[in-house]
Amino acid sequence: MSRTAPDQGLDRVLDRTVLLGYSRLGYAIRRRRWAESDPRPGSLAGRTAVVTGGGSGLGEATVLGLARLGARVHVLVRSPERAAPAVARIERVLRVEGRTAELLTERCDVSDPAMIDAFAEDFCARDGGRTALDVLVHNAGVMPPERTESVEGHELSVATHVLGPIRLTEQLLPALRRSEHGARQVFVASGGMYTQPLPVDDPEFEQGTYQGAVAYARSKRMQVELAPILDRRWSPDRISTFVMHPGWADTPGLARSLPAFRTLSRPLLRPAEEGADTAVWLAATEPTPPSGTFWHDRRQRPTSYRSATRPGRGEAEALWSWAAAAAGLDGP
Ligand SMILES: NC(=O)c1ccc[n+]([C@@H]2O[C@H](COP(=O)([O-])OP(=O)(O)OC[C@H]3O[C@@H](n4cnc5c(N)ncnc54)[C@H](OP(=O)(O)O)[C@@H]3O)[C@@H](O)[C@H]2O)c1
Repeated sequence: MSRTAPDQGLDRVLDRTVLLGYSRLGYAIRRRRWAESDPRPGSLAGRTAVVTGGGSGLGEATVLGLARLGARVHVLVRSPERAAPAVARIERVLRVEGRTAELLTERCDVSDPAMIDAFAEDFCARDGGRTALDVLVHNAGVMPPERTESVEGHELSVATHVLGPIRLTEQLLPALRRSEHGARQVFVASGGMYTQPLPVDDPEFEQGTYQGAVAYARSKRMQVELAPILDRRWSPDRISTFVMHPGWADTPGLARSLPAFRTLSRPLLRPAEEGADTAVWLAATEPTPPSGTFWHDRRQRPTSYRSATRPGRGEAEALWSWAAAAAGLDGP
């Protein structure tokens, strides 16, 4: 869709004011201008998607959005029992809308390499080793109040948002390569990453007083800065890499992690479906948007607004060397 200069100017103002752009107001204003860019109905028919953390909040809304477009969706969760009400809600909505879609709930803690490997090995071997994966949404997220470590001893927000997703993609490569159309992976980051530089010297928050929101924002900054590197790694396999941020959405995770913020901003928070919109759009829109890029509300966004948060020369590559080793990849 072509955009006029006043459109782009308004969009930029919304983005810079944060309060407006990230809220339901920003979504409502932009939405009026992009209706014709909605993915074609049925655009994901016959395609398979995996959504991590699909048992609540934005993940649930992403599963619904992908299923509405016809995808078969594997809902990856730590606890199928906890996710059951969300999956039932999605199935109910699809039924009421007269759609049929296949949802499969699977157990996988994405901070645990052993569980990632077991899931990926099993997934890739299905259908006599012919299973293809077209869409992979790295949505699972945490904001631990105290410094917490994964089973492998990595700080939990980095393990969940960076190391696990990298390993999951790598282990799913056989299925991703089989995507007829070229697979797409989407990382769900956060606008909070704008506040933090890349923590090249202390990626696991071992120095200073741990603050969950800072650790969280740093790990989301890593997702954004690694996107071009991940694109270079996996574009030969015809995998496109996108990072997006959802704005502020009213989800169980937000209520748990930032209760005071939620109370104050509740009238402005987006419903989860609006927060998930760009992840679904990136998975389905044609032509495929440029890979290795950062998005919000269906538009590519700057990765930094201040020079203090922009990585210096070689810093993203240094972080990648660390991350590839910490994720257990064969080499960066
Ligand atoms: N809501 C917002 O305004 C907002 C803003 C910016 C970014 N985000 C990002 O959006 C994503 C979704 O967040 P949300 O707001 O929807 O929060 P949420 O309701 O807490 O959803 C997060 C989901 O991730 C799952 N999860 C956590 N750790 C996992 C792991 N190791 N393996 C598998 N699943 C795991 C959780 O499952 P359990 O039931 O097992 O805990 C939960 O279902 C996160 O990446 C978050 O950082 C949200």
